[in-house]
Amino acid sequence: MNLINQVTTNQSQQDDGKIDGQPIYAPQLSKTNGEWRNGAGIISDGKDTNSENRPTRKLTKTAKSLIIYFSRSGSTELLASKIEQKTHADILEIVVKNPYAGNYGKTLSRANSERDNQDYPELNMQVPDLKQYQTIYLGYPIWAMTVSHPMVSFLNTYGGRLINKRIAPFMTEGGYGQGDSVQRIQQIIRDQGGHGDTFTRVLVIDGNKVDRADQQTFNWVNQVNQND
Ligand SMILES: Cc1cc2nc3c(=O)[nH]c(=O)nc-3n(C[C@H](O)[C@H](O)[C@H](O)COP(=O)(O)O)c2cc1C
Repeated sequence: MNLINQVTTNQSQQDDGKIDGQPIYAPQLSKTNGEWRNGAGIISDGKDTNSENRPTRKLTKTAKSLIIYFSRSGSTELLASKIEQKTHADILEIVVKNPYAGNYGKTLSRANSERDNQDYPELNMQVPDLKQYQTIYLGYPIWAMTVSHPMVSFLNTYGGRLINKRIAPFMTEGGYGQGDSVQRIQQIIRDQGGHGDTFTRVLVIDGNKVDRADQQTFNWVNQVNQND
């Protein structure tokens, strides 16, 4: 085994945090910008889809807040876990029937084709009625300067259940920012009868820096809840 393989293997075995007791693999973390190349430079070991884990699903009868998230390569999942640490909110992971590849190029070409054909992925999850929740933390990676496709699928089907709730969007991205993701989410919910005026400030973190974003995350959570 040469040194590069050894380093890659060791990194793949390391877990980068936990969510609902399960390991998070977030291979972007701590990569320099040169190695990271805005998300494109990560050598996949297959684990970065986190597809081997049981989908995160912590639903209690009493929580007033719920974190709903999608994450392909673990960074948004790690951010969700930090929000959970601070809020003790329930958590629901968005799961697609056909998981995205670990390989960045393959995921990019699948995503491009889904976007060109407006053919968003089929979900594989049960969603409760969400009536008990006042605040929904909505987490996703940015793809092509907008909200990633599994979250679009989720909102197209269940966006009506978010009407009149406080919606707190959080996202990770490759260094190019939030794009039009929030406007797009607002539009999808409006199309289902919402007003789009219940959104908080957003939290935007670079995918390779989520492990250094605790203070920013906790400050944002405090702002989300400042009027309670
Ligand atoms: C298909 C695809 C498209 C992407 N497009 C963008 C983009 O337009 N702008 C950006 O800043 N990052 C982009 N990225 C990088 C991701 O937003 C970034 O790696 C993110 O942290 C991944 O989150 P995750 O680990 O939770 O899946 C893209 C990544 C993928 C896989």
